[in-house]
Amino acid sequence: MSKIKFTVDGKACIGTPGQTIMEAALANGVYIPALCRYEGLKPAGSCRICTVRVGGRPMAACTQPVSEGMAVENMSQELEDMRKALVEMLFVEGNHMCPTCEKSGNCELQALAYRYQMLVPRFPYQFPARSVEPTGGRLLFEYNRCIQCLRCVRSVKTKDGKAVFGPLGRSEKKKIGMDKELASKLSDKDAREAMDRCPVGALLKKEVGFVIPIGKRKFDKTPIGSDVGKTAS
Ligand code: FES
Repeated sequence: MSKIKFTVDGKACIGTPGQTIMEAALANGVYIPALCRYEGLKPAGSCRICTVRVGGRPMAACTQPVSEGMAVENMSQELEDMRKALVEMLFVEGNHMCPTCEKSGNCELQALAYRYQMLVPRFPYQFPARSVEPTGGRLLFEYNRCIQCLRCVRSVKTKDGKAVFGPLGRSEKKKIGMDKELASKLSDKDAREAMDRCPVGALLKKEVGFVIPIGKRKFDKTPIGSDVGKTAS
C-alpha cells in the first residue's frame, strides 16, 4: 500500500490512503484532542474539538482525509485556546454537576476541562431546563449532561439493526430522541456498551454508576490523551 508523508507540528508522520488526519496522527503516536470521535464509529464531525489548521485553514481532523505533504498544525496556543472555549461552551450549555455525576473520572468532557485547566467559563451559564428519562429497560437518559456528540445515534442499535437514538428538532430545541420501546429491549451488554460509549454521563446503565469508586477511574489516574503513542489507538 502506498504511503503518505505528512507532518504534525513539524513531526514527520506516515499515513495510508483513506485515513483521516486523526487516524493517521494517532497511528503515529500524536494526540489530537477529540470528543465526538469514537474508535470504530463513522466520524460525525459534530464537536469540532479536533480542529487543526492545514495551510492556515481550520478543519476537523476526524473527518478530513490526510494527504501527501500536509503540514498539520495541532498544538498551537490559538488552537488549544479555541478547544478550551468549546469545552467551556459545552459546560455552560448543559447542566454538568461533576461532583455528583456517576461518570465523574470516566467523563471525557470533564477530562478535557482538566486538561485545559478550566476554572470559570468565559460564557454565561444557561441552566437549561432538561429532563432525566428512564427507558423502561436498563438505561437512563440524563439530558442535563448530553452534549449531542451523536455517538449513541451512530452506534446503539437493536439486534435487528434499528437505531434506538436519533437527532430531533433544530437549533436550541435540538435534542437526542430516544425510542423507549427499542431502548427497553437492549441487552445488558448493549446497555453497558452504550453507557461506555457516551463521553459524558448522559447515557447511564442502571445500578452500575458507582461500581468503580470515584478516585479510581480512568481519568483519575491518567490525563486524557496521555496514553496515545503508548497503546494502540
Ligand atoms: Fe472531530 Fe468531534 S472529534 S469533530
